[in-house]
This record gives sequence, C-alpha cells and structure tokens, in this order.
Amino acid sequence: MHRASSNATHPKKTILVTGASSGIGKQTALALAAQGHTIIMHGRNTRKTQEVRDWIVERTGNRDVHAHVADLSLMNEVARFAADINAAYDHLDVLVNNAGGQFGSTREVTAEGHEKTFAINTLAPFLLTNLLLPKLQRSPSARIVTVASESYRQAGQPILDDIELEGHYSMARAYGFSKLYVWWLMRQLDARLKAAGVRNVTVNTVEPGSAATALQRESIRKSPWMLPLIILWLPFIRTARHGARTSVLMASSPTVEGVSGEFWGNMRRKHINGKWISADGERRIWDYCERVCASYLTDVTQ
Ligand SMILES: NC(=O)c1ccc[n+]([C@@H]2O[C@H](COP(=O)([O-])OP(=O)(O)OC[C@H]3O[C@@H](n4cnc5c(N)ncnc54)[C@H](OP(=O)(O)O)[C@@H]3O)[C@@H](O)[C@H]2O)c1
Repeated sequence: MHRASSNATHPKKTILVTGASSGIGKQTALALAAQGHTIIMHGRNTRKTQEVRDWIVERTGNRDVHAHVADLSLMNEVARFAADINAAYDHLDVLVNNAGGQFGSTREVTAEGHEKTFAINTLAPFLLTNLLLPKLQRSPSARIVTVASESYRQAGQPILDDIELEGHYSMARAYGFSKLYVWWLMRQLDARLKAAGVRNVTVNTVEPGSAATALQRESIRKSPWMLPLIILWLPFIRTARHGARTSVLMASSPTVEGVSGEFWGNMRRKHINGKWISADGERRIWDYCERVCASYLTDVTQ
C-alpha cells in the first residue's frame, strides 16, 4: 500500500519532518516517503527514531530516509541540529515543523530558562525555520509547513506582557498560546518574505484535528484529572494517519503550489475569525523570539 513511487505528480523533493518518531509526524514521513521523496526525519530519541526510520523504509521500499536526533526544547540543540542539516544537505524543498509537546498543570522551565511548551512549540520552529531558510531558498520552489492547533480558541485572550506565562500559567493557556503564536510567527515570516521579494518559498500553517497520538501522555501523567475529559472526547478522535493528511497535502501536492500565508485544516483552507488576528501581536511575538534567539541568528539574513 505504501510502496515508493516518485512520479510526475510528486517530483522528488528533499523534505525535513520534525517529530517524525511518533504520531502525526511519523505518518507524515511515511506518506511522503511513499511518494518517493528524500526524507530527513527528526526525532529526539536515537533508538526510537532509527526504528521508525527502518519501519518506513520497510513499508515503502524508499531507502532515501535519514534519521537525525535533537532535543528541540533547547535552542542550543536546535542550532546544532540546523547546523548538521545545513552541512549534510545541499538544499531543502520542504520543512514540516511538526514536533510538539503538551505538559501538566505545573509550569516547567527548560535548562535554558524557557517555559517548556513555548520552547518546543513556538521558539524551536521559529529558530529552526530561520536557520534553514537559506537552504530552503536554494530550492526552486520551497514550502514551510507548520503544525499548529485550534486549541488556541480555548486559551482565552493572549497575555502579551507575560508571553512565557510566569504569572498566568495553565496547561490550556500554555498549549493554546504556543500554537497561536507559532501561527502568528509563520504569518509574519510569510509577510517578511513577500516584502523582501522572495518568490520561491511558501509558508503555511496546518491544523491536524484531534488525532489519537502520544501527545497527551505527559499531561495525563502529570494531571490525571484530564483522563475523563479525554475519554469523553474519544468519539471525535481520528487516527494519526488521518491527522497527517493536511500536512502531506501542503508539503507535496501540486494543487497547492504557490499558496502561502494561509491556515489549512481537514484538507481545506480555513477561515479564521478576525479576533484571533493581530498585527501588533504578531510583531511582538516575532520581536520576542528574535531577542531570545539573537545569539543563534547572527549569520542569518533577517
Ligand atoms: N494529536 C492531536 O490531536 C493534535 C491536535 C492538534 C495539533 N497537534 C500537533 O501535532 C503535532 C504532532 O503531535 P502528535 O499528536 O503526533 O504527538 P506525538 O505522538 O507526541 O508526537 C510528537 C513528536 O514530537 C517529538 N517531540 C516532543 N518533544 C520533543 C522535544 N523536546 N524535542 C524533539 N522532539 C520532540 C516527539 O518525540 P518522541 O517520539 O520521542 O516522543 C514526537 O516525534 C504537534 O505539534 C501537536 O501539537 C496534535
């Protein structure tokens, strides 16, 4: 069912998928490998990532699948990972920022001092995308696809004077805002690329819908009260493979060639209520992430 078949519909691309060792990212990498592309799959655990790489090769017959490992909660690891990719590949056609995390009801900070959800879901895709942008610009037609979530609608009004939620933490806010902010960052990036006259890189955000994955495992472990809510939600949960469909569409389908600056879900362009769009908010989040990541961004033309 998944044998590799690079063809005129899917000309061969070099595609990096983060968080490809599990869930939606694993299914995204599998489907794209089956289309015959070169797949750079990222995970955080060497053995698990290598096992998933071997499973994809076995299922698709595509041997052009390569495992790389990095902990994306740490920006020095993101920078090291980006340097490895920049050294190993001549160009990139597609970057799928898929890796993500959700944590418990107590605020946690990384060894670098950042709220953990924000670090993985917002800062990491911001830094990785910026550091890989020169490689993407070497492609005749590059795509950046970032996996967000509609959970921002349950998080309430963004708290822009406390971006890392030092005084306002809750699990719902941390996760929802991290996904709203990464979407805002991708809107900003799209606007900045267009303003700079860059025509060969598109930037889109996707929402996978509710999919049965390991995403909630840490939040349930740390906040067991969530379990009944998730059980009630089970009838609405789809498979990880179903959740991957929109990422795969935006990563490789010729039908969306040139589409940029949009939010897609369930294989369609989504209409976003204007109350979630804020030019001022986008700039403030961009500036914040740029400040936090400044020491890693010195070589990149902004
Ligand atoms: N499932 C849903 O209903 C849903 C809904 C909306 C949005 N999303 C988004 O979809 C994306 C994929 O999530 P999923 O549901 O497939 O969850 P998942 O099964 O937990 O997969 C998450 C992936 O990210 C990796 N990851 C987590 N923390 C990391 C870190 N610190 N450094 C590097 N990699 C890390 C995981 O590695 P390991 O394999 O080692 O854990 C895994 O490969 C996420 O961005 C999530 O927010 C999911």
